[in-house]
Amino acid sequence: MTDLLGPVEEGVARVAAAGSLDELSAAEQEVLGRRSAVMAARQQLGALPAEDRKEAGKAVNEARERLQAAVEARRAELEAAARAQRLDAERMDLTEVSSRWARGHQHLVSQTQEQLEDVFVAMGYRVAEGPEAETDWYNFEALNMPPGHPARSMWDTLYLKLGAPGSVLLRTHTSPVQIRVMQSQPPPVYIVAPGRCYRRDTPDARHLSVFHQIEGLVVDRHISFGDLAGTIEAFTGAYFGPTIRSRLRPSFFPFTEPSAEFDVTCIFCDGAGCRVCSHSGWIELGGCGMVDPNVFEAVGIDNEEWQGFAFGFGIDRCAMLRHNIDDIRHFITNDVRFLRQF
Ligand code: PHE
Repeated sequence: MTDLLGPVEEGVARVAAAGSLDELSAAEQEVLGRRSAVMAARQQLGALPAEDRKEAGKAVNEARERLQAAVEARRAELEAAARAQRLDAERMDLTEVSSRWARGHQHLVSQTQEQLEDVFVAMGYRVAEGPEAETDWYNFEALNMPPGHPARSMWDTLYLKLGAPGSVLLRTHTSPVQIRVMQSQPPPVYIVAPGRCYRRDTPDARHLSVFHQIEGLVVDRHISFGDLAGTIEAFTGAYFGPTIRSRLRPSFFPFTEPSAEFDVTCIFCDGAGCRVCSHSGWIELGGCGMVDPNVFEAVGIDNEEWQGFAFGFGIDRCAMLRHNIDDIRHFITNDVRFLRQF
C-alpha cells in the first residue's frame, strides 16, 4: 500500500497555491482525478489482504476528504475574491454627496440663461416670463398662424389633454411671451423672455424634446431692421467675445416680416468648416425679424405709430458653442463628472 501522507500534504499545498478558478480546476484534476495518487491507492485496495483492507480504505477516504475540503475551501476564497473585484469595479462613488457635504452649483444651462439675461439687461431690457403650458391662441394664432396654417408644421407640437382637443399645448417656442407682454403693457417694450420649450423631436446630438430659448422683443417708434441687426451683433459680441462673428440670412416666420435666421461662426473650426457645422463654417443660433403687422393687430397695437423687432434663439446651443460641448444630451444625463466642469 502506497503511503498517502506525503502526496496528501503536497496535494493540499498544490490546491492552496491555485491563483485562479482555472488553476484550481487543474489542481483538482491532478490531486483527485483518475491519475492521482489517491485514486491509485484506492485501486490497490482490492489486492490487499482482507485484514488490512479496512484500515487502508479508511486512510484512502480520509485522504480524499481532506483534499476535497481543501479544494472547496480554496474555491470559496477565489470566488469571494472575484466577486469583491467585480463589485469594486462596478462601485459608484457616492461619498462626495453624503460624507463631504459637497455643495452643488447652478446647472450650466441656468448659468448661461442668467449670463444672457445680464447681457440684455445691460442693454436696457427687462426680463419677462410666460407659462410653459400655453393655449393654441398664444402659441400660434396670435402669432399670425390661424388654425390649419401650413407654417404650424415648422413646430412638432406636444398637446395636453386639457380643454377642447388641440387647444392646450406645451409651448414650442418662447414667442407666445411676446403676445402676453404686449397685452399687458403699452409700448415702448424692451424685453427678453427665457424659458423651457417643448417639441416632439427625437433626441440626438443637437436636439432634445425639452430645450431652452430666449426671446427678445422690442416695440418702439422708428425701429428698423438695422436696429435688429445691430442688436444681434452686440449680443453675440458681448456673450461669445469679439472673435465670433454673426450673420443674418433671409428666412421665413409667420410672425415677422421680413424674417431672418442668424448664424455665428463655428467655434469648433473657427469658420474653416468641419463636421459640426456641416462644413459651412457657420452654426445656426435662432430666428428674428420685424414684428408682422398682423401680430400687432392681434394685440391691438397701432402699427402706423409703432414698429418692432423680435428674435428667439437656443440657450442650450449658446452654452454648447461657448464651452465646446458636442452633444446637447450631456445637459440632461446628470453625470457629475460633466456637470462639475462648469
Ligand atoms: N420662435 C422662432 C422659433 O422658435 C424663433 C423666432 C423668434 C423667429 C422671434 C423670429 C422672431 O423657431
